Order: sequence, then structure tokens, then C-alpha cells
Amino acid sequence: MQNPDARAVMIDATRLLGQLQSLAGFTSVEPSAEGTAVTRIVFTPDDLRARAWLRKLAVDEGLSVRVDTVGNTFFRWSGAEPDLPAVATGSHIDAIPHAGMYDGTVGVLGGLEAIRALKRSGLSPRRSIELVLLTSEEPTRFGIGCLGSRLISGTLDPEKADTLHGAQRGTEEETLAQVRAAAGFTGPLSSVRLPQGHYHAWVELHIEQGPLLERAGEPIGIVTAIAAPAGYRFTIEGMGGHAGALLMPDRRDALCAAAELILSIEKHTVATGATDSVATVGTCDVYPGAVNSVPSRVTLQLDIRDTDPARREGVMQAVRRDVEAIRTRREVRITESLVNADDPATCSPHIVEVLDEVCRGAGIQPRHMVSRAYHDSLFMARIAPMAMIFIPCRAGVSHRPDEYAAPADISLGARILASALGKLASE
Ligand code: GLV
Ligand code: MN
Ligand code: MN
Repeated sequence: MQNPDARAVMIDATRLLGQLQSLAGFTSVEPSAEGTAVTRIVFTPDDLRARAWLRKLAVDEGLSVRVDTVGNTFFRWSGAEPDLPAVATGSHIDAIPHAGMYDGTVGVLGGLEAIRALKRSGLSPRRSIELVLLTSEEPTRFGIGCLGSRLISGTLDPEKADTLHGAQRGTEEETLAQVRAAAGFTGPLSSVRLPQGHYHAWVELHIEQGPLLERAGEPIGIVTAIAAPAGYRFTIEGMGGHAGALLMPDRRDALCAAAELILSIEKHTVATGATDSVATVGTCDVYPGAVNSVPSRVTLQLDIRDTDPARREGVMQAVRRDVEAIRTRREVRITESLVNADDPATCSPHIVEVLDEVCRGAGIQPRHMVSRAYHDSLFMARIAPMAMIFIPCRAGVSHRPDEYAAPADISLGARILASALGKLASE
């Protein structure tokens, strides 16, 4: 069979949902009244067990396996012309602390089910079709998101990457070089890089992580661009002392200075008036961290994003002016270090058109939309034409245990993905 349309592709929704549930079981958090909280930090025993489980599923489907030195894993269904650039799909299975069970996993297990469905349809693809599990899309452990896809696309210097320090629950730990070696991923990170044109097309299926599809009652979004993320670390150093004895006029409290800095970030982001400008300070490490001790040092991590990198930089400039004022007034030292400042990605008009066509064939009018969340696709776009398929998630909730996507939407997303992969693989 050639070019199956979305109606001809049959997704085994029961199996796909069952496997999403099973994957959610690889977590260091017990299910609670809050919902199925999932915490699966890269290269922890839970992550490694989940990888082994996934690998078995893929091998059972007859896919070949390649694992690179950072743990990106490539499951391939060989096409009739295996030397042609393959068509690829994929996402991540790592999960931030107390996350839900759909972020990333829908793209990985949905991608696997899409391949199974294409096999069942009798398709004999011209190009190979590959499912890729990307390492550490989440920045939780190494402070920078999309580690695997940054290295694939040459966006992160491999030597520098190996020196990144892991930090779990605020404690400094080993470097990436040490952590990945202990997890069984050895060899130079420079070998992870893939050349421009390595893939004919890259398509990622993901939950929207925002409310627009659900609000509009629309089942499918096609992403046309991904907003540009940036990350900064601020260290604020003041003077510690006894919480009772150090008099207020004599204080140089690092946490009070940090509080002003956080509010400055919020103020200048809101002042842009742009819905696409967002900024979050999501971690705050206080030293020495005792209730009766004036904080002498604070480290903050800032995540700031925009569809317009110039506007994002404008916010940072305004924040830096406030930093000067805080420094002087509070007599503290404030240092800023850049973690990453990425450009936005534009999706391939051709893949968007293919996805439109597949949706129309299935009787669906898809919504074209921007992704404000980042994804590995942001970096895969640097080596291949890229697009993404979004499905709704309840109330737009994500990065929370109550994240939820409806079975019918997951199944439809996998069906659209399968059909698109089939078409792209015939090109
Ligand atoms: C991805 O997890 C993001 O933070 O956008
Ligand atoms: Mn996420
Ligand atoms: Mn994700």
C-alpha cells in the first residue's frame, strides 16, 4: 500500500493508552491524590528502566536500534531505499519533578504506535522511518533543556556539555561526563552531531501545553513556529548573620535583593504587553538556608521566552538597569550568567502542507499555531525540515500531575502522525 490516508490508518488506542500508563509507572513519585505525578529525571534508575522497557517494545516491532553517546536512541524501520534520508519522529520521556504523564511521552509512544499502524496497513515505505528518543529535553538535571537535540544539531559545544554539572534538589553533583558514563553512555559527545540533511523530514507529536485547542473545540493543531527560549542564572551575594542580632539597618540580605530582582523580571515582562513574552524564576537556592540565619547567597534560575528574541532582550536590558539599582541600594553583589539564548524556529511550509492535507483527508480543520513551550523540534529544525502536531490537553495544564489528554485526542494525533510519516516517506 502507498500513501495511506488518515482514514485507512488504524491506531490501537487501547495498547497506546496502556503503554502510556505503564511508562507513567517509571517514576520516583508514588501516585497520589493529586493524580499520577511523574518524576523521571534523566539518567536516574527510573529513566534507565523506562528506556530499557521502550527499547524492548521497539525491538519487538522489528525496529533496529542505535544509541549515541548521550543516550539519544534511534529506532529504525528500514525503507525500500534505506540510503535515502529517513523521515523521523520522536520526543522525550524525561519528566520534571511532579509532572504529568503525557508531556513528551505521547510523541514517543504515539510515534511507536504510528509505525506499528503503518506496518499493519501494509505500507512498504520508500524512505526509512525512524522513532527518536531524545535525551533530557527537560533542564531539571543539567540546567539546560534539549540536551540531546542541541548536541545533534551542533548547538551546544560537546566539550562544554560534558562539563555541565548536574543539580538535583539544589545540590551540586557530578558532571554530565560522569553521570552519562555511570548510566552506560560512553564515548565522545562530538559523535552525537548529525549533518544538515540527515533527515528528509522531522515531525513531533506533543500535547499543546496550552488551552487554545480545547477552548476552540479543535482536535489538532499544526505548529508553524516555536518561540525562542533563554535561560540565565543570577547569583546574589550579600552578608549573612544572626537573625536576631543583626540589626535591620546593617543588613545586606541576599534573599531580599533576589525578591526585588524577581519582581523586576515580572514587571518588565508584563510591560511588553505581548502575550508571547513570558518569564519565570522557577528555582531559588538560599544559603545557608536556616530560618534563624540572614541569607548571604541566593541563586536563581530564570526561564524567559518570546517569539521575538529582540523583545526578549529588551526585557533583559530593563532588568539589568534594575539590577544596577538593587546592587547599589542594597550593597550586594549580583552576577548574571547566560545558560542559553536560542532563536525561534520556523516550521517547514511543505510539512505543514502535508499535515494540512492529512487533516483535511480525515475531515479535520486543523488550527495553525505557535508553540510557546519549547521542544526538541526547535533544534531538530536546524538539521531537517520540521513541523509539529499538537493535541489538546485539559485546561491547557502541563508540568503538573493533573496534566491530561483525552484518549480520543491521543489516538487521533497518532493517526495524523502515522499518515504524515507514510506520505513523507514516499517522497
Ligand atoms: C519544555 O518542557 C518547556 O519547558 O517548554
Ligand atoms: Mn516539559
Ligand atoms: Mn515536552
